[in-house]
Amino acid sequence: MAVSYKDLGLVNTKELFAKAVAGGYAIPAYNFNNLEQLQAILQACVETKSPVILQVSAGARKYANATLLRNMAKGATEYVKELGYDIPVVLHLDHGDTFELCKECIDSGFSSVMIDGSHHSYEENIALTKKVVEYAHAHGVSVEGELGVLAGVEDDVVAEKSTYTRPEEVEDFVKRTGVDSLAISIGTSHGAHKFTPAQCTTNAEGKLVPPPLKFEILEEIEKRIPGFPIVLHGSSSVPQEEVDTINKYGGALKAAVGIPEEQLRKAAKSAVCKINIDSDGRLAMTAAVRKVFVESPGEFDPRKFLGPARDALKKLYMHKNINVLGSANKA
Ligand code: G3H
Ligand code: 13P
Ligand code: ZN
Repeated sequence: MAVSYKDLGLVNTKELFAKAVAGGYAIPAYNFNNLEQLQAILQACVETKSPVILQVSAGARKYANATLLRNMAKGATEYVKELGYDIPVVLHLDHGDTFELCKECIDSGFSSVMIDGSHHSYEENIALTKKVVEYAHAHGVSVEGELGVLAGVEDDVVAEKSTYTRPEEVEDFVKRTGVDSLAISIGTSHGAHKFTPAQCTTNAEGKLVPPPLKFEILEEIEKRIPGFPIVLHGSSSVPQEEVDTINKYGGALKAAVGIPEEQLRKAAKSAVCKINIDSDGRLAMTAAVRKVFVESPGEFDPRKFLGPARDALKKLYMHKNINVLGSANKA
């Protein structure tokens, strides 16, 4: 039997995005695959009074089991109330690649889906996205489309090079598909290795500085579709202290470079109203787990290493909401 997100206390993105665009901040979209990640995200967002988009990827559904995962998310709104502050919660499919997957998620209680047709031709992308929009809107569910291709790994699809979004296409795409938001490619990419050292310059402190995001493309897009909600994927900043902690405790992460937080802050002040972050959370959790294993090699209770990982994730996401996205106190 189909379940509506409305019965689960979840909301779609419509009102949240309108407020975020007008208010010059971005809503955090954090991925989760397990209980500890879900707890950390909700705790961080309740404590900072931030709206939140809980993201589930196809990989997460494979890893955790789709039924278990969505039932965990169904408890989210009740848990939030228990934590003491009722923030808006969106349950979103990240990088949906088929109509069938989007439909399955819509029918099982998701309030928002992404249909990522960016690897198809322009016309195929439009046809697929439009089909998802028609079904989703009939159920009150929001849809995110994508134009342009990000470099890096998107689930099982690996893009070698990025293709920036072509501003001349956005108006036509948005009009013909009816999407509620648009993910664009302006230099972000997925994963912890967004830039090679050869692509970066080195600053006075010896830190690798990546090339800036293509703000000129974002500005051109905003001129063509003023006030339309824009989404940035691949927005992890890859904090050097997390990389250093991982390597200090036996890891071997080399040349991991992300998007500087100041650039995300600048983007969040524009029509960018949803910022996707996953890799930074993975780094924070890995650093915390490695530290426990090295400092307490006798430890074998999962709560003793997953607990610190959860706390590190919560701290990181509170920082993102307050200092990067500007979403704190917007719930
Ligand atoms: O965009 C990708 C997200 O980080 C999700 O990653 O496909 O490994 O779950 P995943
Ligand atoms: P990062 O790999 O930069 O965290 O991006 C996550 C993302 O875009 C999820 O859709
Ligand atoms: Zn993504």
